[in-house]
Amino acid sequence: MKISRILYASSLTVLVFFACLGIIHAHANDSVFLHRYVGDESCEVCHSSLRIGQQFQVWGGSPHARAYQDLKSPQALEVARKFGIADPTQDQRCLSCHTTAAGAPLPEILSTFRKKDGVQCESCHGPGEDYSHFSVMIDPVKSRASGLVSKPSENTCKTCHNPSSPTYKGFDFKRDMARIAHPIPEAFKKEVKELGKGE
Ligand code: HEC
Ligand code: HEC
Ligand code: HEC
Ligand code: HEC
Repeated sequence: MKISRILYASSLTVLVFFACLGIIHAHANDSVFLHRYVGDESCEVCHSSLRIGQQFQVWGGSPHARAYQDLKSPQALEVARKFGIADPTQDQRCLSCHTTAAGAPLPEILSTFRKKDGVQCESCHGPGEDYSHFSVMIDPVKSRASGLVSKPSENTCKTCHNPSSPTYKGFDFKRDMARIAHPIPEAFKKEVKELGKGE
């Protein structure tokens, strides 16, 4: 009884230690396990095929994929100047909406992640380390438990599409979602369901 209590106490100490290092921390979804950012290339492997609907290419052609690079444009420099910012690609006040994982501590970001890819899949779908594996992705229960936000909400969009954007143009979820839509074809969803049953 006593020993187990000591063990419990020491495991708590270890947890608190790692929590202080920022290696473990609670997310909005209450998970105490850390899901780290892997970057869009880790999604490309599967989400660039024609059968699944080429989400990678659709995103790649969208303004989100350019969001970081656009911070180098003359227009961005103009906007930045009004805030006394010399280089918007280095300033958190611009990066917070023009990149993914802008505020995340370093241990949360894997080496495959590239800031220059702008507002990536994981900005909306959550950090992908634990869900971006085939056996997890095809299981709606497992994927959500591993951090996947399968249907990001209007509120997710509004963390960036709001009046604190210096160039705010307004936001209409239905209209703006249609502009970046990247659905999976029904035929493929059926295929995956059959596969799930077979297992
Ligand atoms: C190993 C292949 C693979 C990788 C890597 C992968 N996916 Fe998937 N993903 C799939 C498959 C297959 C489905 C279809 C599952 C279904 O229809 O039930 C899917 C479905 C999804 C869905 C819809 C899930 C649902 O239940 O509605 C989202 C969102 C998604 N993936 C995002 C991502 C993101 C973001 C990444 C990268 C961080 C990623 N995926 C990496 C194979 C993959
Ligand atoms: C700006 C936010 C955003 C980004 C960036 C984004 N998605 Fe999505 N994604 C969404 C939303 C919102 C939905 C749900 C759409 C709906 O239900 O109408 C969705 C749905 C999906 C689905 C499920 C489609 C279906 O028919 O069930 C997949 C798969 C997916 N995204 C993969 C990706 C991948 C892979 C990337 C990166 C290459 C990516 N998404 C980038 C917001 C985003
Ligand atoms: C992490 C911040 C972020 C999130 C979350 C986000 N966006 Fe964006 N979005 C941007 C930025 C930054 C741009 C401008 C990129 C550029 O042009 O360089 C943009 C541009 C767009 C554009 C093009 C707007 C135009 O007038 O050219 C559409 C449409 C859009 N986003 C839709 C969405 C939708 C829908 C969601 C939610 C599902 C969403 N965004 C979530 C940051 C975000
Ligand atoms: C609160 C989130 C947010 C912040 C902070 C932010 N942006 Fe943006 N930015 C956006 C969104 C969303 C868009 C898409 C257009 C809009 O504002 O509705 C955008 C678009 C842009 C555009 C393209 C405008 C166009 O006509 O499409 C430029 C340039 C830009 N931002 C520069 C900056 C600079 C420079 C900073 C830092 C001083 C910055 N942004 C900070 C969210 C943000």
